[in-house]
Amino acid sequence: MKVLLIGSGGREHALAWKLVQSEHVTDLVCAPGNAGIVDIAACADVRADDMVGLIALIQRDAYDFVIIGPEQPLALGLVDVLQEMGVKVFGPTEAAAQLESSKSFTKAFCKRHNIPTADFGTFSDLKEAKAFLKTMTAPYVLKADGLAAGKGVVIAQTLKEANAELEEFFSGKYGKASETVVIEEFMTGQEVSFFALSDGKTGLPLIGAQDHKRAYDGDKGPNTGGMGAYSPAPVFTQEIMQTVLETIIQPTIDGMHNEGHPFVGVLFAGLMLTQDGPKLIEYNVRFGDPECQVLMRRLQSDLMELLIAAEAGQLDKASPPVWFDDPVVNIVLATKGYPGDYKKGSEIKGLEKALERKGVTVFHAGTKSKDGKILANGGRVLNITAQANTLESAVETAYRFIDEDIDWPEGFCRRDIAHHALKE
Ligand code: AMP
Ligand code: GLY
Repeated sequence: MKVLLIGSGGREHALAWKLVQSEHVTDLVCAPGNAGIVDIAACADVRADDMVGLIALIQRDAYDFVIIGPEQPLALGLVDVLQEMGVKVFGPTEAAAQLESSKSFTKAFCKRHNIPTADFGTFSDLKEAKAFLKTMTAPYVLKADGLAAGKGVVIAQTLKEANAELEEFFSGKYGKASETVVIEEFMTGQEVSFFALSDGKTGLPLIGAQDHKRAYDGDKGPNTGGMGAYSPAPVFTQEIMQTVLETIIQPTIDGMHNEGHPFVGVLFAGLMLTQDGPKLIEYNVRFGDPECQVLMRRLQSDLMELLIAAEAGQLDKASPPVWFDDPVVNIVLATKGYPGDYKKGSEIKGLEKALERKGVTVFHAGTKSKDGKILANGGRVLNITAQANTLESAVETAYRFIDEDIDWPEGFCRRDIAHHALKE
C-alpha cells in the first residue's frame, strides 16, 4: 500500500518507524515530516493544518491509505473530505472529533451516557461563570472549550485568581476556543493515558502510559504538550483497565454510534485514578505525544494491519495486539524557553551515537536538517526512548545517552521522568 502519514512530531516519527516495518506498507510519504522521518520515508512539504495543500497532494498522488497524526486536521474535517473523495483514511470525522475539539461537547456527552468524570458547568457568560465559581471549592479548574494546544486548562488556587483567569478567557485569551468555558470539580489521584482503537462499533484496547505535562521537575512549572512518558504504568492494573473499558471506553463508542457520529480512530482517554475509581479528565482523538513513542516501541504486532481493520469496521475480527513486556521510557528534549518563547536554529550533535547504545531509539520532533547538520526547529525537539528489562534500567540508559553523547547546550529535559513508578 502507498500510505500518507500526516504530521511532523515525535508521534509521527514513531508511527513512521513502525509503519515502515509493516509488510502492508510498500511506500510511505509523510507530510510534512521532520529531519528524522526523512531518513525512513519520503517527505512532502505540506503542513498538517494546510487543508487545501493536503487535499491537492492526495488528489495528485493517489494514496491507498491516509493516517492523520495530529488533532487540527481532524477537527477541521479532513476525514470527511477524504471519505467523500473515496480515499481510505484512519481517523474520526469532524463530528466525532468533537470529543477532543469541544470540552463542553464531551462533558455533556459524558453526562448523557453516565460516564464517570468531574462535575462541571459550561458557560459563555462571565457573570454566570463567576456565580458558579462561588459555589465551588478551591482549587478551581477552568478550561477553554476549544483546542488550545494543551494550554487551555488553568488550575487556580484562589477564587480571586480564578475570577481573573475567567475574565482573560472571556476577553479572548484563546480566541474562539475560550468563548465558552468549562468549570470543573478538582479531582485528585494519579493520571494515566489510555488508548483504544475504535472502528465505530468495536473497541480494541491498546495499553496505558503515563505522561509528564509540566515543564519542570517535580511536576512544577507551566503545562506543556508532554515532557516524557513511560509504559507500562504500574498503577494502571489489568483490573482498572477492565473498569475503564466497561465504564468509559465502550459506553463512549456505543454513545457516539447511537448519536449518529460513529467514532473511528484512536480514542485516547486522559484518566484520573481517583479513590472512587477511574474518571475521565478529557478525551483526545489521536495518539498522544509523547505517549505514542513508547506505545510504538512496545507494540510487537503490525500497526498497519490494526489500522486497516479499524478503517474497514472489522476490529471484531482482528487479533488483539501483542506487546513487548519490557518497559519503555521516552524523555523529551526541548529548546530552553519552551513552552514559552524559544529560539530556533541551534545545532544538535551526537545523535548518531544512539546506534551504539543498546535499547535506545531517537524520534525527532521539531528538527530540520541543513548542510548535513541537525538543527532545532521547534519547542519539543527530540524524543529519547529506551527499552530495557526494568524501567529503572531503561531510564538510566536514556539519561546516560543524553548526558554522555548528546551535545546541545540550548536544550533541556526533565530529570525525573518515571519518578512515580520508580518510587513504587
Ligand atoms: P486536560 O487538557 O483537560 O487534560 O487538562 C490538563 C491537565 O490539567 C490534566 O492533565 C490534569 O493534570 C489537570 N486537570 C484537568 N482537569 C482536571 C480536574 N478536573 N481535576 C484535576 N486536575 C485536572
Ligand atoms: N501527551 C498529551 C497529548 O498528546 O495531548
